[in-house]
Amino acid sequence: MSNKTGVLLISHGSRLGYGRQVIEDLAKMYRKTTDYEVITAFMEISEPTIPQAVNALLKNNENIERLIVVPVFLADGMHTKRDIPKILGILSEEDSDIHEKHEHGHHHHHHHHDHELETLDFDGEIIYTSPLGADSRIVDIISDRVKNAT
Ligand code: NI
Repeated sequence: MSNKTGVLLISHGSRLGYGRQVIEDLAKMYRKTTDYEVITAFMEISEPTIPQAVNALLKNNENIERLIVVPVFLADGMHTKRDIPKILGILSEEDSDIHEKHEHGHHHHHHHHDHELETLDFDGEIIYTSPLGADSRIVDIISDRVKNAT
C-alpha cells in the first residue's frame, strides 16, 4: 500500500537558501508523480535533519512501514557512504571502514552537533538507494546550460 511507504529525499544543507529551494521544488514535482509520501531532509547544517524529518513523518502517518531513502547527491562520497547510513542506523562494517580513509576536506562538519541528539526511531524497512550518478538525463541539463550560455 502506498501510504505505508515514505520517500525521503536528502540533500546536503547550506547556510544559503538555494539548496532548500531546489530540494523542496524537486520534492514538489516528484509528489505529483507518486502516491508515496515524500519528505525532504538535510545531511547537515540545515533543518529538518534526517531524524527530524523521519520522526515527523512517522508522527503524521503511523502506517509507514517502509522508507525509501534517496540521497540527492551527484556521486557517492563520505556523506552518502558513511554519514547518512550512520544516521539511518544501517551503516555496514565495510562502509564503516571508509572512516579510516576519510578525505572529506571541507570544514563544515562540526556544526549543529545538537542535531545528533535527536535519533531516528524507526523499526520498519529502510531501503537506501544510489545517488543520481552519471545519467544521460543529467547530460541533457548540462547541454541546456551550455546552449543557454552561448
Ligand atoms: Ni559535507
